[in-house]
Amino acid sequence: MKVTFMDPRGNAVEAAAEAGDNLLRVGQAAELPLEGTCEGQMACSTCHVVVAEDWFDKLTEASEEEEDMLDFAAGVRRTSRLSCQIDLTSELDGLTVSVPADSADARKM
Ligand code: FES
Repeated sequence: MKVTFMDPRGNAVEAAAEAGDNLLRVGQAAELPLEGTCEGQMACSTCHVVVAEDWFDKLTEASEEEEDMLDFAAGVRRTSRLSCQIDLTSELDGLTVSVPADSADARKM
């Protein structure tokens, strides 16, 4: 399966992935600027991505903790998610997400 990341400059970066892979790890492996400082502990929000509208509803819903942490992310949109909380399934083949220009580390605020 593949995932498309739009980098902060608007360039599309395609990454190969497998069901079960974590979206943050896939993005990092494709050299996107996703810090993921807390390594999936939902404590930093530097793994923030904006999911393409068409895909947003296909994802499992964000937990309350994730929603709370998203409040700290810079440039949050309606379809924002923490990539560390998204594990890929075969239904998500073709998923497209954007990496916002600035990510903010909530621990530094
Ligand atoms: Fe820190 Fe996702 S890696 S919240």
